[in-house]
Amino acid sequence: MPDHTANQSRHDAPLVRGRDASKDLGVGAALRTVVEPANFDIFPGERISLTGQSGSGKSTLLHLISGLSTPTSGVVEWPQFGSIDALRPTFIGIAFQGPSLLAPLSVVENVALPLLLLGESERHARSAALVMLDRFELSELSDKLPEEISGGQSQRVGVARSLMGEPRLLVADEPTGQCDQVTAFRVLDIMDELTKERGCALIIAAHDPKIASRMDVHWTIEAGRLARNSA
Ligand SMILES: Nc1ncnc2c1ncn2[C@@H]1O[C@H](COP(=O)(O)OP(=O)(O)OP(=O)(O)O)[C@@H](O)[C@H]1O
Ligand SMILES: [Mg+2]
Repeated sequence: MPDHTANQSRHDAPLVRGRDASKDLGVGAALRTVVEPANFDIFPGERISLTGQSGSGKSTLLHLISGLSTPTSGVVEWPQFGSIDALRPTFIGIAFQGPSLLAPLSVVENVALPLLLLGESERHARSAALVMLDRFELSELSDKLPEEISGGQSQRVGVARSLMGEPRLLVADEPTGQCDQVTAFRVLDIMDELTKERGCALIIAAHDPKIASRMDVHWTIEAGRLARNSA
């Protein structure tokens, strides 16, 4: 099986380590291996693109990396964080591919949520959320409900929320898939600034090669098989 362990000379322990990690999905006759056994590391501050055709297994792999699902075989570990229960909302931020805002909460309440889960006061969480929304140029949406904003705007709010609580790793699953290219690049610029300022590692699934090329390390996945680009 392919070996995608990163540069072994780095002294930091990886944030995420996968060894022979695979994932089967489906039931009965439809059961199939969606991610073939894979070895990978993500180190602090690393910037990784994940590309592959629709249905190739990107989201499934990102769910394993984020601890949202457990591998069918092999292991995924977070050596710097301890158990899977310690991952969220502090250590790993997730910008989901699909709609992820909670419908009854306003935009600013959605963005404040990770800090409330961390036990911060409502006042502090709200003011930090407003700062984050301002950073993403979304201030004018703060009091709207998710149903009152567009799909691309919801996605940008989801990105803003994913960076609350200063995660050490941001997992972004096609985070600008519903935005036009100018908006997408603006969001990516802000994501870049925020993650670099904080030394936050980033793995981003993207279809657009221009987005992938912004990263330093390139992973590809084809029919569930993870590979590194030779470039
Ligand atoms: N819950 C599930 N049960 C069965 N099969 C599933 C399930 N979720 C995903 N799959 C299948 O697993 C494969 C990989 O799906 P995944 O969502 O990881 O692909 P992807 O690379 O993220 O695609 P896209 O670019 O369209 O987001 C697809 O063939 C999909 O149909
Ligand atoms: Mg996907």
